[in-house]
Amino acid sequence: MTGPTDTAPKKLFIKTYGCQMNVYDSERMAEVMGAEGYVAADAAEDADLILLNTCHIRERAAEKTYHELGRMRQLKVDNPDLKIGVTGCVAQAEGAEILSRSALVDLVVGPQAYHRLPALERAARRGERAVETEFPAEDKFDHLPARPKAQRGPVAFLTVQEGCDKFCAFCVVPYTRGSEVSRPVDRVLAEARDLVERGVRDITLLGQNVNAYHGAGPDDAWTLSRLIRELARVDGLERIRYTTSHPRDMDDDLIAAHGEVAKLMPYLHLPVQSGSDRILKRMNRGHTAEDYLRLVDRLRAARPDLLLTSDFIVAFPEETEADFTATLDLIRAVGFGTAFTFKYSARPGTPAAERAALPDDVGDDRLHQLQTLIATQQRAAQEAMVGRTVGVLFEKPGRMPGQMVGKSDHLHAVHVTAEGIAPGDLRQIRITESARNSLGGTLA
Ligand code: SAH
Ligand code: SF4
Ligand code: F3S
Repeated sequence: MTGPTDTAPKKLFIKTYGCQMNVYDSERMAEVMGAEGYVAADAAEDADLILLNTCHIRERAAEKTYHELGRMRQLKVDNPDLKIGVTGCVAQAEGAEILSRSALVDLVVGPQAYHRLPALERAARRGERAVETEFPAEDKFDHLPARPKAQRGPVAFLTVQEGCDKFCAFCVVPYTRGSEVSRPVDRVLAEARDLVERGVRDITLLGQNVNAYHGAGPDDAWTLSRLIRELARVDGLERIRYTTSHPRDMDDDLIAAHGEVAKLMPYLHLPVQSGSDRILKRMNRGHTAEDYLRLVDRLRAARPDLLLTSDFIVAFPEETEADFTATLDLIRAVGFGTAFTFKYSARPGTPAAERAALPDDVGDDRLHQLQTLIATQQRAAQEAMVGRTVGVLFEKPGRMPGQMVGKSDHLHAVHVTAEGIAPGDLRQIRITESARNSLGGTLA
């Protein structure tokens, strides 16, 4: 048996699914439980507490929770003291239902209630099955312990905004994460400075709708561009990005910032979902394909080497061949660095789930066509980098001896074999080759 003793610290294992916001939340949950004496377990087998930080965005994503729980049955047999918690968006969406679907689960905690984890863990240790999925009036960030001071890697996420008020017809996020809330400017700046002191040089600001940021500032509410301009003044912070943005919230100053703020990287993830106005309307996206193309033109006028990536959904209810062709046309017109491509998945409780779904094979075929086109564009975008010199922030050793891996300004993975490069180094690299999902280069 590997249960906790008086001498050994309790061990926590967190498995993270879904978006970057969950990655950030997992880090914060590890810190919350760290303040309770938990240290990280190397594997689920060693843990006294396992948290599955889940995603509800598509059916397959949500089902992973139950598959994973099934696989953990034996762990509880081997260690009767093991507690298992479900956190994240499935926890929020299904709440106590999870307890009835799986006898293995001891606690269920929604994304707004992570500051309550210690109390819930104690309840679970007393043999209760604890559920907390309220959207509390207080901000969870005000109740999380101060972040530890330990040195860390050079790249970090920083959540500045949560929730969404857009209600796209297919999407669960407004239900799982609640309405839009922005963290106050002073908290964000303090957290960023703290991260930089601990070795971070590259921060991605996160929010389900990050460019709708309007956090309370010293005078009035600040926009995202104002926040970025202020962050750019933090010494030691070299790179800023933000994700995920909605086309409707790209305001003039944010577009201008792409041309004016050197630390704002030439990379933007800007989901468009479809190139058909008819489908965009049915999706409740609030803009047309033409609006998006005009926006891209303005962004590229501000920052000519901006690399754009996007999200697409194929086979949304009532999508015709002509609608799908319009999506392919938009992709050809823009030229993306890469994209996340999804087959529509009906989600309970969303308006689109009431509408008739298209046959599976139609979705599969369109997804394949879309992915083929995106792969071509990804290759072209990578090959266009060959011969150029770009900044690369190195993160860790690569698989080959003497090799280091990092991310370019445009967020391409770059491998370099050279002496004297350490994690956290930002170097100018001449790109010499393009492989399947990465670039290779030499010190410039
Ligand atoms: N806030 C972001 C998206 C968050 S979800 C935005 O507005 O762009 C990430 C992506 O998952 C979405 O952009 C969309 O492409 C995809 N997605 C969301 N709901 C989906 C569904 N029901 N079926 C298939 N894909 C979906
Ligand atoms: Fe979902 Fe739309 Fe909000 Fe993005 S903007 S999180 S897709 S509802
Ligand atoms: Fe998934 Fe929730 Fe993120 S549904 S995509 S984990 S906000």
